Amino acid sequence: MNSLFLGVDHIGIAVKDLEAAEETYANILGFEISGSESLPERGLEVRFVETGNSRLELIGATTPNSEISGFLEKRGEGVHHICLEVENIEATVSAMRESGAKFASESIETGAHNTRVAFLHPKGTHGVLIELVEKPKPDERS
Ligand code: CO
Repeated sequence: MNSLFLGVDHIGIAVKDLEAAEETYANILGFEISGSESLPERGLEVRFVETGNSRLELIGATTPNSEISGFLEKRGEGVHHICLEVENIEATVSAMRESGAKFASESIETGAHNTRVAFLHPKGTHGVLIELVEKPKPDERS
């Protein structure tokens, strides 16, 4: 079967100082910051930057052992992941697994706003952490 990809949903950018990054993107670069989110269980806080048909997600750490702390230490600030929207995450993940894809986590997880997400391991994508997201269908939104 073919997986149905719906485009780039967002690009995640790891930053050392979220307030400074927000200031840069809003006041120097002129983007609209459309929202923010706290993810305490992952040690993260994010800001969404509107780019028209997609978004940038500025990601800052709130604890020293957050999900991006290792990345920041090893590679510094920069592009952390690319998120692609798919029609059906279960079908896409199982098709990819069948062809030998490596995932960073065992199972599909629930993300922000009732989305379902899975991360492809960068070792199996030539160096890029790819997030797959399925958004809730209109009748499933809560
Ligand atoms: Co993301």
